[in-house]
Amino acid sequence: MTNTENTRKTILSGIQPTNTPHLGNYLGATKNWVDMQASYDCVCFVADLHAITVRQDPAKLRAQTRQTYALLMAMGMDADKSILFVQSHNHHHAELNWVLSCFTQFGELSRMTQFKDKSSKGEDSMNAGLFTYPTLQAADILLYQADLVPVGADQKQHLELSRNIAVRFNNAYSPTLVVPEPHIPKAVGKIMSLSEPTKKMSKSDDNPNASVSVLDERDVIIRKFKRAVTDSEAQICYREEDEAKAGINNLLSIYAAVTGKAVAEAEAEFAGRGYGEFKEAVGAAVADVFEPVQREYARLIEDKAHLDACMKSGAQRAMRISGKTLAKVYRKVGLLSIDN
Ligand code: TRP
Repeated sequence: MTNTENTRKTILSGIQPTNTPHLGNYLGATKNWVDMQASYDCVCFVADLHAITVRQDPAKLRAQTRQTYALLMAMGMDADKSILFVQSHNHHHAELNWVLSCFTQFGELSRMTQFKDKSSKGEDSMNAGLFTYPTLQAADILLYQADLVPVGADQKQHLELSRNIAVRFNNAYSPTLVVPEPHIPKAVGKIMSLSEPTKKMSKSDDNPNASVSVLDERDVIIRKFKRAVTDSEAQICYREEDEAKAGINNLLSIYAAVTGKAVAEAEAEFAGRGYGEFKEAVGAAVADVFEPVQREYARLIEDKAHLDACMKSGAQRAMRISGKTLAKVYRKVGLLSIDN
């Protein structure tokens, strides 16, 4: 092949199907993946194997997996152009995970902050999967020889471990695995909780008004924004690092991100206007962005045959790439092959 496809870098990311994605996931992650399809070969998957490190209701997990996959497509992930699949549909992830676990130090896993956080909360429910989760993530990345992985702060340490494992493997044998680099997406201010704007918007927040789901209806979205916590200053201006302004800063960032305007433009647009009116406008702008996603989602989720066909072909395409890496790894470590 002489086309440019060969020179394009591969970028890879995964999303857990544990809850419906919210505005923070959309602006901070999935929207970037959609945009990156123009310049990279994208590998994108629903990380259902990661989700079972915490006990899940089986029927709900199945439904959420399908929902997350359909939502990725509805947001603009192109199942033909990109490789879009469900992690458990490709058994190479679990297989490479085993081999790489033999190249991961106990101490490295013990130092993972996510593991330390979780284990300090509820020791009783700790399982080995929660401990080895980062090795599975390394397998996800290294199987596709990904050049780049978009990382937020919470995933930096996991990517660092993937790099260490790749280097360790390559040093033990010969260059086999591409050592992935972090890809820092262009800055969208961190999206904060609507009810506690000094905290990050989170899927697991108990307060339903804290976050806006991609599937929330228009009036629900607007209502949540109207309730957003602000301050009593009555000044719609962005003041970095000023905790009192955290609510307004967040709303301005959101408005700028969903409309594609600069924060300064947004400030000018609302100068002298009241908070009530401003909050409603931000809610409406968010609803405008989600509306086409929701419409496309409703269509996709009804068309089970099409969705299944996309998942199947995505998994097959994924396996063609990951199979090559796995075969190389098996050979290098000395596993005997019967396919000559
Ligand atoms: N651990 C990631 C999360 O919780 C999801 C994930 C799994 C992932 N495998 C990955 C992200 C590989 C990037 C690359 O959000």
